[in-house]
Amino acid sequence: MRRFVIVGHRASTTGDFKLDDICGGAGRLDVLIRCINSSFFLSHSLRRDVEAYLILQGGDDAPKTLRFKGDELRYLNPDERSTASLMRNALLKKLSDSEIKASPGIYVSRRGLRDVLSSLSESGEIVYLKEEGEDIRRTELPEDIVFVLGDDRDLSEEEEQALKEHADRSLCLGPISYHSDHCITIAHNEMDRRV
Ligand SMILES: C[S@@+](CC[C@H](N)C(=O)[O-])C[C@H]1O[C@@H](n2cnc3c(N)ncnc32)[C@H](O)[C@@H]1O
Repeated sequence: MRRFVIVGHRASTTGDFKLDDICGGAGRLDVLIRCINSSFFLSHSLRRDVEAYLILQGGDDAPKTLRFKGDELRYLNPDERSTASLMRNALLKKLSDSEIKASPGIYVSRRGLRDVLSSLSESGEIVYLKEEGEDIRRTELPEDIVFVLGDDRDLSEEEEQALKEHADRSLCLGPISYHSDHCITIAHNEMDRRV
């Protein structure tokens, strides 16, 4: 199972954004939506053996986590607007302490990065995608793996510290800095080539 955890530093947690303003008022939700597309979409199907976690840290109700579960997902389309709408519906749900299902394959909870990492510690190796890491082409990758990455901003020192409690390795995908969604595509490709 492949998992991706993307930290959305300013991403809206309140769901009160306009669908025409996902790059601005929604706190760069566009970046996270492209990460969802890269996590799941193939040419003519969806990757079912994938989970993606969006850690939303913006707005008055932070943090919240949206979890996308590939084998249950329905109504996910490649256009950013319709995914923003699914996310907005999830963020408008009334939340208690536990995770709830907002729509098929999309779950929402009040968890932040630390909680999500703790919950994933038995789910496979957790690795940090970082420009200064070890070259992914020169290392072994387990089948069960959790990739953690930033949105349009790198992880803060505090977030890196939290991650270091769970991740022993930082992996580099190439010699330059890529967009987060492109990182996910590259990571998938590296994994696909090894099966
Ligand atoms: C758009 S980058 C963040 C900002 C970028 N570091 C910069 O200086 O402009 C988004 C995230 O993708 C990951 N990333 C980007 N390039 C990478 C690379 N070559 N190897 C591994 N991870 C990378 C990192 O997790 C990074 O935080």
